[in-house]
Amino acid sequence: MAALGKVYLIGAGPGAPDLITVRGARLLAQADVVLYDALVTPEMLALCERAEKISVGKRSGQRSTAQTHINEQLVDCARRYQAVVRLKGGDPMLFGRADEELRALEAEGIEVEVVPGITTAVAAAAATLQPLTKRGVARSVAFFTSSTAPDHPEHPALPETDTLIQYMGGREAAATAERLLAQGRRPDLPVITVENCSRPDQRVRRLLLSDLAHGLETAHGPVLVMIGEALQRREHQPDDK
Ligand SMILES: C[S@@+](CC[C@H](N)C(=O)[O-])C[C@H]1O[C@@H](n2cnc3c(N)ncnc32)[C@H](O)[C@@H]1O
Repeated sequence: MAALGKVYLIGAGPGAPDLITVRGARLLAQADVVLYDALVTPEMLALCERAEKISVGKRSGQRSTAQTHINEQLVDCARRYQAVVRLKGGDPMLFGRADEELRALEAEGIEVEVVPGITTAVAAAAATLQPLTKRGVARSVAFFTSSTAPDHPEHPALPETDTLIQYMGGREAAATAERLLAQGRRPDLPVITVENCSRPDQRVRRLLLSDLAHGLETAHGPVLVMIGEALQRREHQPDDK
């Protein structure tokens, strides 16, 4: 039987093609096959010209069936190819179903290497020139989501950190704001939303926690919601791009 290939779980970063790591780009260029997510941009796929490219982007709803299929595809590819890349938006180890994929590959004895990527939270901090921690003001940060697995539908408690970064929060943002206000957070706490971070159509909006409780404007791309005192504009800070 032919030797099993190796699977690389690579973080593509937030979208801009030059925000992937050097290691990630090198492995992409050498890949035989690349299975990529919906949030991976066409510019990023230009880095793996010679590879067979398989879109495994999934929409919400029927997510577990889709994930099982992706796991099977990964195992199948590792049986047929030497260098298999699983390319995920941001960092593969954050909100990316990496646990399921690692379990499926490990169960078949397939070697895996993870290459980190720039997660959206730190890319959004850079894009808005807004540190997530601030001496004397914010010493803790939580990356969280209110999106729940179908078999765990209840809403978990919100983190009690100084800065909160909500992934997959577009539809949940108003409810999150209401819960934070009910927990005693200040209504004038700064909030920043970043849509399509690092891409040409990036949109930054600044509002207050009390505004967020009324919901977000409709977004056309992925949105990250950042909440906390550290996000207060500095006196001479340039306008957002
Ligand atoms: C399934 S999670 C994947 C997160 C990814 N693994 C990471 O580390 O950034 C998808 C969510 O990440 C955020 N996201 C990913 N890319 C983004 C981008 N370019 N701009 C804004 N938000 C983004 C959004 O909140 C989106 O709903």
